[in-house]
Amino acid sequence: MGENKRATLGGRLSAVLVAAGSAVGLGNIWRFPYIAGENGGGAFLVIYIGCILLLGVPVLLAEFTVGRHTHKNSVGAYRLLSKKWSFLGYNSVISSLLILGFYFVVSGWTLEYFTSSITGAISEYSSSVVNAERFADFTTDPVRPVIFTVIFALLTHVVIALGVQKGIERSSKLMMPILFVMLVVLAIRSITMPNGLEGLKFLFTPDFSKVTAKTFLDAMGQAFFSLSIGLGCMITYSSYFNDKTNLQNTAYNVVILDTLVAVLAGAMIFPAVFSVGIEPTSGPSLVFVTLPSIFNTMTFGSLWSAIFFLLLILAALTSTISLHEVLTVYLNEEWGISRKHAARCVTLVTTLLASASSLSLGVWGDFKICGLNLFDSLDFVTANILLPLGGCLTSIFAGWVLNKQILRDEISDHGRLKARLFGLLVVLLRYVCPTLLLSIFLYNLGLFTL
Ligand code: TRP
Repeated sequence: MGENKRATLGGRLSAVLVAAGSAVGLGNIWRFPYIAGENGGGAFLVIYIGCILLLGVPVLLAEFTVGRHTHKNSVGAYRLLSKKWSFLGYNSVISSLLILGFYFVVSGWTLEYFTSSITGAISEYSSSVVNAERFADFTTDPVRPVIFTVIFALLTHVVIALGVQKGIERSSKLMMPILFVMLVVLAIRSITMPNGLEGLKFLFTPDFSKVTAKTFLDAMGQAFFSLSIGLGCMITYSSYFNDKTNLQNTAYNVVILDTLVAVLAGAMIFPAVFSVGIEPTSGPSLVFVTLPSIFNTMTFGSLWSAIFFLLLILAALTSTISLHEVLTVYLNEEWGISRKHAARCVTLVTTLLASASSLSLGVWGDFKICGLNLFDSLDFVTANILLPLGGCLTSIFAGWVLNKQILRDEISDHGRLKARLFGLLVVLLRYVCPTLLLSIFLYNLGLFTL
């Protein structure tokens, strides 16, 4: 596809829904509740929102600026703006590949839990102990999780192969509203369970006695992961925005939707957890182990469970699409490979990596990188190293290297919009974001040598 024929998204709503589709994912529904649970609930929420406002909004606007100004893939975009900084584009390509290496695996689990809910198999596992065993048996199995991982990768492939408008734009417009409705229905169901209000209290009453330095670091990492920023994913998506897209409004809407979904996911999960008297601190298995046992106590348990896992599938799919697109459009534009062929290469490579990382939870578990199996090391390296580092460099680039006029023109839509907070944005990008993000990075590097 020649550059002049590059796809653009339709109206204003498309830009918001597509970007929100990338942002809203397993990060909001699976990761946010368990991280909030481990960090005391309400207090975490307050700090998380602080991170979103101070770090999330500026870096998101910086990525939107780079993408929309250049209308190129992340490598091409940085190269066009400054040759020296094109390494940041490669960081984006490598990180997207590595994230997909574990994201496809967890997405595959959601597909298996959905099928087991439909067939009713899930209702045989009534207690959390049995559920935990089932989860462990399934995730360490050498065949079944790999099959589901491959199916999920193929689903993503189909959407990408359909193209930016017919695939990405259409699927986001269809899936995002459904996702939202399902989430609200599930949250209402959960809050109305006996003792459900206890869960809401946990989420909304800040108890700062549980806050430690790690809470801040967890909140920053979660904010970046959840908004899909730091890795140039939003550069790729905003390169399809048209020249009328209002970047400020799009960024605010994406941030609001993403945070709302995370809060609603909390409002769905904590009341259910409290109503059956389980501790909210059970970690990554919260969604896969705790929730199915709660569904089993409900009438029509399998139905609720099916709705919940379908919700997770849709959320995960709109995010895997965005990660896949970063790689596909990179191969397409930088290597001159046709889009269809590029998509096939990406699907093949990411599927192989994800299958290996699924196997690393079981039969290939002895193969360790710095003490972690492949699955955990992919998660660790991306979320704890590449993401904060990428975010830090992105803000330095936008604050110090990028021509101020380009930033102002994009943010104000060439003077058509008021950019009242422009001065504040520059201060945040120049000083606040790099300092805070460098601190997460150094902290995590410390963890690395432990
Ligand atoms: N934001 C998504 C989630 O919350 C995951 C994701 C998609 C992502 N693209 C990304 C995370 C780019 C970091 C960078 O699940």
